[in-house]
Amino acid sequence: MRMIFLGPPGSGKGTQAKKLVEKYGLAHIATGDILRKAITDKTGLGLNAKKFMDAGELVPDEIILGIIKEELTGAGGGFIFDGFPRTLAQAEGLDGILSELGLNLDYVISLKVADDAIIDRLVSRRLCKNCGFEFNLKTRPPKVEGICDRCGSELFQRPDDTVEVIDNRLSVYREKTEPVEDYYRKKRILVEIDGGKGFDKVFGSITEMVGARE
Ligand code: AP5
Repeated sequence: MRMIFLGPPGSGKGTQAKKLVEKYGLAHIATGDILRKAITDKTGLGLNAKKFMDAGELVPDEIILGIIKEELTGAGGGFIFDGFPRTLAQAEGLDGILSELGLNLDYVISLKVADDAIIDRLVSRRLCKNCGFEFNLKTRPPKVEGICDRCGSELFQRPDDTVEVIDNRLSVYREKTEPVEDYYRKKRILVEIDGGKGFDKVFGSITEMVGARE
Protein backbone atom coordinates (compact mmCIF):
# COMPACT_ATOMS: atom_id res chain seq x y z
CA MET A 1 0.00 0.00 0.00
CA ARG A 2 1.45 3.36 -1.01
CA MET A 3 -0.37 6.50 0.00
CA ILE A 4 -0.11 10.22 0.60
CA PHE A 5 -1.73 12.22 3.40
CA LEU A 6 -2.63 15.75 2.36
CA GLY A 7 -4.36 18.26 4.58
CA PRO A 8 -3.70 21.61 6.22
CA PRO A 9 -1.51 21.90 9.32
CA GLY A 10 -3.23 20.27 12.28
CA SER A 11 -5.64 18.23 10.16
CA GLY A 12 -4.34 15.04 11.81
CA LYS A 13 -1.99 13.72 9.11
CA GLY A 14 0.68 12.65 11.60
CA THR A 15 -1.80 11.19 14.10
CA GLN A 16 -3.62 9.09 11.52
CA ALA A 17 -0.47 8.10 9.60
CA LYS A 18 1.06 6.65 12.80
CA LYS A 19 -2.08 4.54 13.41
CA LEU A 20 -2.07 3.24 9.82
CA VAL A 21 1.64 2.46 9.96
CA GLU A 22 0.95 0.33 13.05
CA LYS A 23 -2.02 -1.44 11.46
CA TYR A 24 -0.52 -2.15 8.04
CA GLY A 25 3.24 -2.19 8.77
CA LEU A 26 4.12 0.63 6.35
CA ALA A 27 7.08 3.03 6.32
CA HIS A 28 6.12 6.50 7.62
CA ILE A 29 7.86 9.23 5.63
CA ALA A 30 7.07 12.57 7.31
CA THR A 31 9.08 15.43 5.83
CA GLY A 32 8.32 17.72 8.80
CA ASP A 33 9.73 15.13 11.25
CA ILE A 34 12.82 14.56 9.08
CA LEU A 35 13.46 18.32 8.95
CA ARG A 36 12.90 18.79 12.71
CA LYS A 37 15.39 15.99 13.43
CA ALA A 38 17.92 17.71 11.17
CA ILE A 39 17.39 20.94 13.16
CA THR A 40 17.93 19.11 16.48
CA ASP A 41 21.06 17.42 15.08
CA LYS A 42 22.27 20.83 13.79
CA THR A 43 23.06 19.43 10.32
CA GLY A 44 23.44 21.65 7.22
CA LEU A 45 19.93 20.60 6.15
CA GLY A 46 18.55 21.63 9.55
CA LEU A 47 20.29 25.01 9.59
CA ASN A 48 18.96 25.70 6.11
CA ALA A 49 15.39 24.55 6.85
CA LYS A 50 14.90 26.26 10.24
CA LYS A 51 14.25 29.79 9.00
CA PHE A 52 11.55 28.57 6.59
CA MET A 53 9.85 26.35 9.17
CA ASP A 54 9.83 28.89 11.99
CA ALA A 55 8.07 31.35 9.67
CA GLY A 56 5.56 28.76 8.41
CA GLU A 57 7.00 28.92 4.89
CA LEU A 58 7.86 25.90 2.74
CA VAL A 59 11.38 24.52 2.50
CA PRO A 60 12.60 24.71 -1.16
CA ASP A 61 11.43 21.91 -3.47
CA GLU A 62 14.89 20.68 -4.49
CA ILE A 63 15.83 20.06 -0.83
CA ILE A 64 12.60 18.14 -0.19
CA LEU A 65 12.87 16.03 -3.36
CA GLY A 66 16.45 15.11 -2.40
CA ILE A 67 15.19 13.84 0.99
CA ILE A 68 12.37 11.85 -0.62
CA LYS A 69 14.64 10.17 -3.14
CA GLU A 70 16.92 9.03 -0.34
CA GLU A 71 14.02 7.76 1.82
CA LEU A 72 12.34 5.87 -1.02
CA THR A 73 15.47 4.17 -2.20
CA GLY A 74 15.63 2.45 1.20
CA ALA A 75 11.90 1.67 1.57
CA GLY A 76 11.13 -1.44 -0.47
CA GLY A 77 7.49 -2.04 0.53
CA GLY A 78 4.52 0.14 1.32
CA PHE A 79 4.75 3.69 2.65
CA ILE A 80 2.77 6.72 3.75
CA PHE A 81 3.92 10.22 2.84
CA ASP A 82 2.86 12.64 5.56
CA GLY A 83 3.18 16.32 4.58
CA PHE A 84 4.60 15.63 1.13
CA PRO A 85 4.10 16.67 -1.65
CA ARG A 86 3.20 20.26 -0.81
CA THR A 87 3.69 21.93 -4.20
CA LEU A 88 2.94 20.97 -7.79
CA ALA A 89 6.69 20.80 -8.46
CA GLN A 90 7.05 18.26 -5.62
CA ALA A 91 4.11 16.19 -6.97
CA GLU A 92 5.62 16.15 -10.46
CA GLY A 93 9.06 15.36 -9.02
CA LEU A 94 7.54 12.46 -7.07
CA ASP A 95 6.00 11.06 -10.26
CA GLY A 96 9.48 11.04 -11.80
CA ILE A 97 11.07 9.31 -8.77
CA LEU A 98 8.30 6.70 -8.58
CA SER A 99 8.51 5.89 -12.27
CA GLU A 100 12.31 5.49 -11.98
CA LEU A 101 11.70 3.02 -9.15
CA GLY A 102 8.81 1.30 -10.99
CA LEU A 103 6.31 2.16 -8.22
CA ASN A 104 2.86 3.76 -8.22
CA LEU A 105 0.49 5.35 -5.70
CA ASP A 106 -2.70 3.70 -4.46
CA TYR A 107 -4.42 6.56 -2.62
CA VAL A 108 -4.08 10.21 -1.79
CA ILE A 109 -6.11 11.00 1.33
CA SER A 110 -7.07 14.61 1.94
CA LEU A 111 -8.17 15.38 5.51
CA LYS A 112 -10.71 18.22 5.73
CA VAL A 113 -10.88 20.29 8.95
CA ALA A 114 -12.27 23.81 9.59
CA ASP A 115 -9.70 26.56 10.28
CA ASP A 116 -10.98 27.38 13.79
CA ALA A 117 -10.65 23.72 14.87
CA ILE A 118 -7.11 23.64 13.42
CA ILE A 119 -6.02 26.71 15.38
CA ASP A 120 -7.55 25.29 18.54
CA ARG A 121 -5.70 21.97 18.09
CA LEU A 122 -2.32 23.46 17.25
CA VAL A 123 -2.06 26.12 19.95
CA SER A 124 -2.84 23.34 22.50
CA ARG A 125 -0.15 20.93 21.24
CA ARG A 126 2.85 20.26 23.54
CA LEU A 127 5.79 17.91 22.96
CA CYS A 128 8.32 16.31 25.26
CA LYS A 129 11.84 17.72 24.83
CA ASN A 130 13.37 14.35 25.60
CA CYS A 131 11.20 11.51 24.22
CA GLY A 132 9.11 13.52 21.73
CA PHE A 133 5.79 12.18 23.12
CA GLU A 134 2.92 14.39 22.08
CA PHE A 135 0.33 15.91 24.40
CA ASN A 136 -2.59 18.20 23.73
CA LEU A 137 -3.83 20.47 26.52
CA LYS A 138 -7.45 19.90 25.39
CA THR A 139 -7.56 16.24 24.29
CA ARG A 140 -4.54 14.56 25.91
CA PRO A 141 -3.24 16.76 28.76
CA PRO A 142 -0.19 15.74 30.83
CA LYS A 143 -0.91 14.67 34.42
CA VAL A 144 1.42 17.40 35.71
CA GLU A 145 1.42 20.73 33.84
CA GLY A 146 4.50 21.15 31.62
CA ILE A 147 5.94 17.71 32.47
CA CYS A 148 6.00 14.53 30.35
CA ASP A 149 4.04 11.61 31.88
CA ARG A 150 6.39 9.13 30.27
CA CYS A 151 9.89 10.37 31.12
CA GLY A 152 9.41 13.37 33.44
CA SER A 153 11.11 15.84 31.07
CA GLU A 154 9.94 19.35 30.19
CA LEU A 155 7.28 19.94 27.52
CA PHE A 156 7.61 22.58 24.82
CA GLN A 157 5.52 24.20 22.11
CA ARG A 158 6.61 23.99 18.45
CA PRO A 159 7.85 27.46 17.33
CA ASP A 160 5.41 27.29 14.38
CA ASP A 161 2.39 26.58 16.62
CA THR A 162 1.69 30.24 17.48
CA VAL A 163 -1.50 31.85 16.11
CA GLU A 164 0.45 34.16 13.73
CA VAL A 165 2.54 31.37 12.22
CA ILE A 166 -0.46 29.01 12.00
CA ASP A 167 -2.31 31.71 10.00
CA ASN A 168 0.61 31.85 7.58
CA ARG A 169 0.83 28.03 7.36
CA LEU A 170 -2.88 27.97 6.44
CA SER A 171 -2.38 30.63 3.73
CA VAL A 172 0.62 28.75 2.34
CA TYR A 173 -1.48 25.57 2.29
CA ARG A 174 -4.24 27.27 0.30
CA GLU A 175 -1.86 28.86 -2.17
CA LYS A 176 0.70 26.09 -2.71
CA THR A 177 -0.81 22.76 -1.61
CA GLU A 178 -4.49 22.96 -2.59
CA PRO A 179 -3.43 22.80 -6.27
CA VAL A 180 -1.77 19.45 -5.39
CA GLU A 181 -5.20 18.16 -4.32
CA ASP A 182 -6.52 19.06 -7.80
CA TYR A 183 -3.53 17.34 -9.39
CA TYR A 184 -4.46 14.03 -7.74
CA ARG A 185 -8.21 14.61 -8.18
CA LYS A 186 -7.61 14.69 -11.94
CA LYS A 187 -5.69 11.40 -11.62
CA ARG A 188 -8.76 9.99 -9.77
CA ILE A 189 -6.82 8.82 -6.72
CA LEU A 190 -7.85 11.60 -4.30
CA VAL A 191 -10.19 10.62 -1.44
CA GLU A 192 -11.56 13.34 0.86
CA ILE A 193 -12.13 12.39 4.51
CA ASP A 194 -13.79 14.50 7.22
CA GLY A 195 -10.90 15.00 9.66
CA GLY A 196 -12.97 17.17 12.02
CA LYS A 197 -14.42 14.20 13.96
CA GLY A 198 -12.81 12.38 16.90
CA PHE A 199 -9.52 10.43 16.46
CA ASP A 200 -11.17 6.99 16.22
CA LYS A 201 -13.97 8.10 13.90
CA VAL A 202 -11.45 9.59 11.45
CA PHE A 203 -9.37 6.40 11.62
CA GLY A 204 -12.52 4.32 11.04
CA SER A 205 -13.39 6.36 7.91
CA ILE A 206 -9.88 5.84 6.53
CA THR A 207 -9.70 2.08 7.18
CA GLU A 208 -13.23 1.64 5.80
CA MET A 209 -12.18 3.41 2.60
CA VAL A 210 -8.97 1.34 2.32
CA GLY A 211 -10.90 -1.91 2.97
CA ALA A 212 -13.55 -1.04 0.36
CA ARG A 213 -10.92 -0.43 -2.31
CA GLU A 214 -8.70 -3.46 -1.61
P1 AP5 B 1 4.82 19.40 9.26
O1 AP5 B 1 5.54 18.89 10.42
O2 AP5 B 1 4.45 18.46 8.16
O3 AP5 B 1 3.59 20.20 9.84
P2 AP5 B 1 2.13 20.41 9.27
O4 AP5 B 1 1.75 19.89 7.97
O5 AP5 B 1 1.92 21.85 9.45
O6 AP5 B 1 1.39 19.42 10.15
P3 AP5 B 1 1.24 19.29 11.70
O7 AP5 B 1 2.25 18.32 12.21
O8 AP5 B 1 1.16 20.59 12.41
O9 AP5 B 1 -0.21 18.71 11.72
P4 AP5 B 1 -0.79 17.29 11.28
O10 AP5 B 1 -1.75 17.47 10.15
O11 AP5 B 1 0.28 16.24 11.12
O12 AP5 B 1 -1.65 17.02 12.55
P5 AP5 B 1 -1.25 16.18 13.85
O13 AP5 B 1 -1.65 14.76 13.65
O14 AP5 B 1 0.15 16.48 14.23
O15 AP5 B 1 5.65 20.59 8.56
C1 AP5 B 1 6.22 21.62 9.34
C2 AP5 B 1 7.02 22.55 8.42
O16 AP5 B 1 8.07 21.80 7.77
C3 AP5 B 1 6.23 23.18 7.26
O17 AP5 B 1 5.56 24.35 7.64
C4 AP5 B 1 7.38 23.47 6.27
O18 AP5 B 1 8.13 24.60 6.67
C5 AP5 B 1 8.29 22.25 6.44
N1 AP5 B 1 7.91 21.17 5.51
C6 AP5 B 1 7.46 19.92 5.85
N2 AP5 B 1 7.21 19.20 4.74
C7 AP5 B 1 7.52 20.00 3.68
C8 AP5 B 1 7.45 19.83 2.28
N3 AP5 B 1 7.01 18.69 1.74
N4 AP5 B 1 7.81 20.88 1.49
C9 AP5 B 1 8.26 22.03 2.01
N5 AP5 B 1 8.34 22.27 3.33
C10 AP5 B 1 7.98 21.25 4.17
O19 AP5 B 1 -2.26 16.82 14.91
C11 AP5 B 1 -2.11 18.16 15.35
C12 AP5 B 1 -2.78 18.32 16.72
O20 AP5 B 1 -4.17 18.05 16.58
C13 AP5 B 1 -2.26 17.32 17.77
O21 AP5 B 1 -2.20 17.95 19.02
C14 AP5 B 1 -3.31 16.20 17.77
O22 AP5 B 1 -3.39 15.55 19.00
C15 AP5 B 1 -4.58 16.99 17.44
N6 AP5 B 1 -5.54 16.16 16.70
C16 AP5 B 1 -5.27 15.37 15.60
N7 AP5 B 1 -6.39 14.75 15.18
C17 AP5 B 1 -7.39 15.17 16.03
C18 AP5 B 1 -8.78 14.88 16.11
N8 AP5 B 1 -9.38 14.05 15.22
N9 AP5 B 1 -9.50 15.49 17.08
C19 AP5 B 1 -8.90 16.34 17.96
N10 AP5 B 1 -7.58 16.64 17.95
C20 AP5 B 1 -6.84 16.07 16.99
